[in-house]
Amino acid sequence: MNPLDYRQWPTTSKSIYGSIKLGPIPRPSSILITGMGGSGIVGDVLRDYLGGRIPIHVVKDLTVPDWVDASTLTIAISYSGNTSETICSSLRARERGSAVIGVTTGGIMASEFRRLGIQVVQVPTATAPRFGFPQLLYAALSIIDDAVGVNGKEVEESIAAQEEALRDVSLAEYVGEQLLGAVPYIFIDSRVQGVAVRFKNDLNENAKTPAIVAPIPEADHNDIVTLMMRHSVKHVLIKAGPNPVMEAVESVFADFSADPVKLELKGDGLLAKELYGITLLGMATLHMAEKLGVDPVRTDPIDLLKKRLG
Ligand code: PA5
Repeated sequence: MNPLDYRQWPTTSKSIYGSIKLGPIPRPSSILITGMGGSGIVGDVLRDYLGGRIPIHVVKDLTVPDWVDASTLTIAISYSGNTSETICSSLRARERGSAVIGVTTGGIMASEFRRLGIQVVQVPTATAPRFGFPQLLYAALSIIDDAVGVNGKEVEESIAAQEEALRDVSLAEYVGEQLLGAVPYIFIDSRVQGVAVRFKNDLNENAKTPAIVAPIPEADHNDIVTLMMRHSVKHVLIKAGPNPVMEAVESVFADFSADPVKLELKGDGLLAKELYGITLLGMATLHMAEKLGVDPVRTDPIDLLKKRLG
């Protein structure tokens, strides 16, 4: 298995977190995170982790909601700095009075934001946007730490969880093997749903494989009914610690003779569990790419679409 940048993830995370120097940030009452794909996933993870403390709204679009104003902090994340949705939505947020900070490796975002006097956090490059996840995530976490404070111990635990996932490489390969040739149907504890969104994206982009995300408890009211028929899907059940609803779902799976691939996310706390899952399942998709004989880095249809959008 070619681990691409995964082995560097813990070191990169440590070197980024806390090393970012920013000018003053007004204390926000809400945070808007805008970004697409491998950059936008940072928003999903941070909403899972911090959304109970401060309203976090994730935008994967060209526009922003009408309530965005000077009390909102906007973090615009684009690995390349050239993604039109992210640039447009962040400039819309700025027009509405929101303070904006860009996180990118360069591109139009770096040059245009600087020209407009918008702060930019420039992060190191990776093999492809999604493999630059730690630099994007820990840069955004540093910004939020400056703005509203973040629990440093939980951040450290999330880096330890990446190391734990790297040690569990044979589990990653096992998960990947189970999913070859099927459409993964990912049932997940909604407290950590960012893990399933990222897993789906990695399945799509690294392993060129379609996938379905079913966050529980909502999936208990729709997706679960599909157990009544046989489909060419492979169920995956991702758990994040004690949760009676997840146990009930597991028992219903058993009653309908579904045999899901089960994964219990390791780590102390939500952020650690997210980082364990994202690292481990990312490696699973690289293993699948190798078995399927596809290049995990190439995303030709995305590149073509971006060219067409201009
Ligand atoms: O991982 C990828 O390659 C994609 O999902 C990109 O992240 C997505 O196309 C957005 O581009 P960028 O991250 O450069 O803004």
